[in-house]
Amino acid sequence: MEKKTYTKAHSKGRNLLDKLYSPHRDDQGGWVVQIVGKKGSGKTAATLSFLNNALHKYPTERVWFSECLNAALQCFKLNPDDVQLFAEKDKIVFRDRDRKMKPTNRLDVIEFTDIEDLYEKSIPGKVNVPFFESRTTWLDLVAYLTHDVGEWQHVFIDEMNELTPAGAGEVWRDNAWFSSVLKDARKSFVSLYWNTQMAEQLDWRVRKMAMMKIFLPGSQTSNRDRTWQNSVWSLQQDDKKGNEFWIEETGGYYGKCRLTDIWKPRKGYHFDAHPTYREGDYYCKKCDRKHKVNSRKGQEHLKYAR
Ligand SMILES: Nc1ncnc2c1ncn2[C@@H]1O[C@H](COP(=O)(O)OP(=O)(O)O)[C@@H](O)[C@H]1O
Ligand SMILES: [Mg+2]
Ligand SMILES: [Zn+2]
Repeated sequence: MEKKTYTKAHSKGRNLLDKLYSPHRDDQGGWVVQIVGKKGSGKTAATLSFLNNALHKYPTERVWFSECLNAALQCFKLNPDDVQLFAEKDKIVFRDRDRKMKPTNRLDVIEFTDIEDLYEKSIPGKVNVPFFESRTTWLDLVAYLTHDVGEWQHVFIDEMNELTPAGAGEVWRDNAWFSSVLKDARKSFVSLYWNTQMAEQLDWRVRKMAMMKIFLPGSQTSNRDRTWQNSVWSLQQDDKKGNEFWIEETGGYYGKCRLTDIWKPRKGYHFDAHPTYREGDYYCKKCDRKHKVNSRKGQEHLKYAR
């Protein structure tokens, strides 16, 4: 018989997870949730679990997923039939990793001109995955969803550090502005999840808006968190049963949990989205020089494009 290790921490964790699994709260807005953990600890997997829950629980509402540019798309870990890609008109090219990064027309992509156009074209009951030439336009989309639409929105952001990085001099005002958007989101019909490797990578004004925090293996806690650094080291890692994590509600209690659904890359769905301005040449971080995008090296090293 398997050893039973269900503790009080697990039952508290279960309660917190149940709160997240029913994001509709009549008296308040949705949850703002932060997921941290080392590379490969299952941040994207956890994000997709919550996304999948929202998708199936609220089939008449909109689910949004924000992905990195120039990296393998994560949305196809979900059922591809649930996914709808969108691209800013003439600004994005999709490439096939299985076909030497050649541009692909195998994907069904809806083009849009601006955020309003995108919203009109977005589809309830699908995972809407829009790509902007600059990923930071996502901040404007979240502001739009918070302020300009009175319907429930479920937003999931992979690698949030790309959107609201800490210590980014020039975008400082953006981060301050965005944290005020999040303040409103907490009172609106928006539920928002993001993940990042380390909380410190995020602007502090943004990171302090999280109402619920999830600590996967290898994450770092701060002295403001209830979760102790020592207890992070004790988390079980199991890529078949799912990794354990600590979950805590800001100003509330904490517990231990795991998500048992596993999300892996899907065969035949290895695509990237690239901004078309890289179509001429681009700067390669690996070689520390420029490549022509049409050259062989240029194709091979697209993933190192800055
Ligand atoms: N719930 C899970 N717990 C542990 N490992 C998982 C889980 N889901 C998927 N994995 C495995 O771990 C790998 C990395 O997970 P991923 O979510 O991409 O991590 P991260 O986003 O933190 O880098 C996946 O490709 C998969 O093989
Ligand atoms: Mg990831
Ligand atoms: Zn190179």
